[in-house]
Amino acid sequence: MRVALLANLKKNAPTWPGMSPDQWDDLDSEKTIQAIMGALESHGHQVTFLEGDVTLYDTVRELRPDICFNICEGHFGDSREAQVPAILEMLRVPYTGSRVLTLALALDKPMTKRVLAYHNLPTPAFQVFERANEPLDPDMYFPLFVKPSREGTGMGVSADSIVRDEQQLRTQLQQLLDRYEQPVLVERFVEGREVTVGVVGDLTAPVAWRVPEDEEARRITRGLYFFPPLEVDMGKYPIEEGGVYTNRIKVELAEDFHYLCPAPLTEEQVEELNWLTAATFRVTGCLDVARVDFRLDASDNFKPYILEINPLPGLNPGYSDLCIEAQGAGWTYEELVNRILDEAIQRYGLEEKS
Ligand SMILES: Nc1ncnc2c1ncn2[C@@H]1O[C@H](COP(=O)(O)OP(=O)(O)O)[C@@H](O)[C@H]1O
Ligand SMILES: [Mg+2]
Repeated sequence: MRVALLANLKKNAPTWPGMSPDQWDDLDSEKTIQAIMGALESHGHQVTFLEGDVTLYDTVRELRPDICFNICEGHFGDSREAQVPAILEMLRVPYTGSRVLTLALALDKPMTKRVLAYHNLPTPAFQVFERANEPLDPDMYFPLFVKPSREGTGMGVSADSIVRDEQQLRTQLQQLLDRYEQPVLVERFVEGREVTVGVVGDLTAPVAWRVPEDEEARRITRGLYFFPPLEVDMGKYPIEEGGVYTNRIKVELAEDFHYLCPAPLTEEQVEELNWLTAATFRVTGCLDVARVDFRLDASDNFKPYILEINPLPGLNPGYSDLCIEAQGAGWTYEELVNRILDEAIQRYGLEEKS
């Protein structure tokens, strides 16, 4: 098939004086683009890279691909990951992965948590701040964890994100409000292990955006392939990182990633994480691929809490969590990338035409 690979390359991103040094940390490197192109080509596809910015409206109409492999994170706006898919839908061009509503939702952590809470899925108690001096809800107890509402790749996340008193909270709130110009999410700090579960596939129809409560609840995992959970080996990182999967670990120290995959968990624990991953995938309306980040609460028998769902998980062949998990399952990088494409091809019913 003729595939357009759509991404936002770090080196093509706009720059301006005084911009934050982590501004484009979630965008992709040429290495990742080359790797994805190579993977798709190895399965016989003809691949063209298109930058996912304003030029895309013209370039995609000119190229007329059969399908797009979309990993665009977007540049600006509170729904930036949803912008390219919106253009593709206007042009009626098929693409891999989740659609507009899901990408906009998942980029907004508080909105996602409201959906999870509605479905009684476990996510840390939280409060959103638009000003640094808003009163703290009486049911929010220190220590708390402070992070931007709509960033990724650990942007704005450091050891200082853990706040133990009012003063630390207010300082951190002010810093993040100034730097990221968006509401700040404050959560109960979940002390414990750091685990992430990747998944490829699609839920088999019919899919309502709710979690079934009956004895057949387990069926919501049907159609999904779960990779073995990856645990970030926090003990191997400098103490200054505070036991948190920080921006520094994800960017500066990315090539020297310390992890356990499969994570040392019991069968029951893995089953529960998989069920929660499927439930999150379902209620947020994900398609083809996603990765759910958890913290396991050390103070409560390692009960899992959902931190977020990533419908566009990183695909750097060397160190992205999803790629390591796929490797842990014995998959090659080529298999992972092509499985994502094939899921979309199937959903759109494109295979008969090729
Ligand atoms: N409520 C929390 N309690 C403890 N650690 C947290 C909490 N929220 C986030 N973290 C830490 O910060 C990291 C990044 O948070 P996450 O919500 O996954 O954002 P990102 O989009 O940057 O990955 C997590 O992997 C975890 O180490
Ligand atoms: Mg995360």
